Amino acid sequence: MSTEPLKIHLDDRDIGRSLRHDVRVGLTGVPKWLPPKWFYDARGSELFEEITRLPEYYPTRAERAVLATHATEIAELTGAKTLIELGSGSSEKTRLLLDAFTRRRGLGTFVPLDVSASALAASTAALAADYAGLRVRGIVGDFTRHLDRLPAGGRRLVIFLGGTIGNLLPAERAEFLTRTRAALEVGDWLLVGTDLVKDPAVIVPAYDDEAGVTAEFNRNVLRVLNRELGADFDPAAFTHVALWDPEQEWIEMRLRAQRPVRVRVLDLDVAFAEGEELRTEVSAKFHPEGIAAELASAGLHAERFWTDPDDLFGVTLARAD
Ligand code: AVJ
Repeated sequence: MSTEPLKIHLDDRDIGRSLRHDVRVGLTGVPKWLPPKWFYDARGSELFEEITRLPEYYPTRAERAVLATHATEIAELTGAKTLIELGSGSSEKTRLLLDAFTRRRGLGTFVPLDVSASALAASTAALAADYAGLRVRGIVGDFTRHLDRLPAGGRRLVIFLGGTIGNLLPAERAEFLTRTRAALEVGDWLLVGTDLVKDPAVIVPAYDDEAGVTAEFNRNVLRVLNRELGADFDPAAFTHVALWDPEQEWIEMRLRAQRPVRVRVLDLDVAFAEGEELRTEVSAKFHPEGIAAELASAGLHAERFWTDPDDLFGVTLARAD
């Protein structure tokens, strides 16, 4: 086993700078918004892990079912020497792939990249302990900014699981795929998980669970702003909203002010009218044809597309041409 020290491409100063930038732009914008990456401090990462175990939140289980069935095929088709995971979080489902690659031999290095240093420290330690002979090189970074820092050489498989690509807006997604392709060599692979369009009666409860864990996760971003920027949000003044947008085919999470709220943050004095909403996340859902077309526009050729038995979630394996 071996874990190398985490490579830090995002230190506290970078994180602070980009948080301040996002808060300034997002809270002075109309409508107000914040990018979803700010959910994931240690508490937010734990709440997300809790979400993945909720009865209503099907994506994690559905994606795990796909990976359990097709991991061996993925290992064989790609023959990867290096596995790189973007937005790795706990890397829990990735173990299905690591198991398959271990049986086949040939995989030397696993590179998880995440914005959360705490999540990475925990996952790299656990993985190195469980996979003897695997080199684990964690990178603290932002998958929208640090794709040019991925280790070069060897046959590489980049994985982007959980449907996290759906948290990017369409233009950001196109840019992300183009940059990913640019970071790859011909013959490298991308494995991407996408939640699929389906009856909103199934999707909405996954983002508005009975136990209120998603609501806590959503409000956590306000706690992050309070702690990191000395803001004075009262999280209890905001209610959780999950809304299906049938035109965009995405879920939007918002925080709605229950009463007029004034917040001091940075040098800003931000006013929320009663009922005013702050958009905190979009989570786009996909059609199989749409995924292949978006990949193709970026120079990635979809060679396999799998779903779980209930067709809830799709996993696409694409090759860099
Ligand atoms: C980060 C993409 C896995 O959009 O479903 C879960 C985050 N947000 N509940 C998603 C999330 C609300 C999640 N992913």
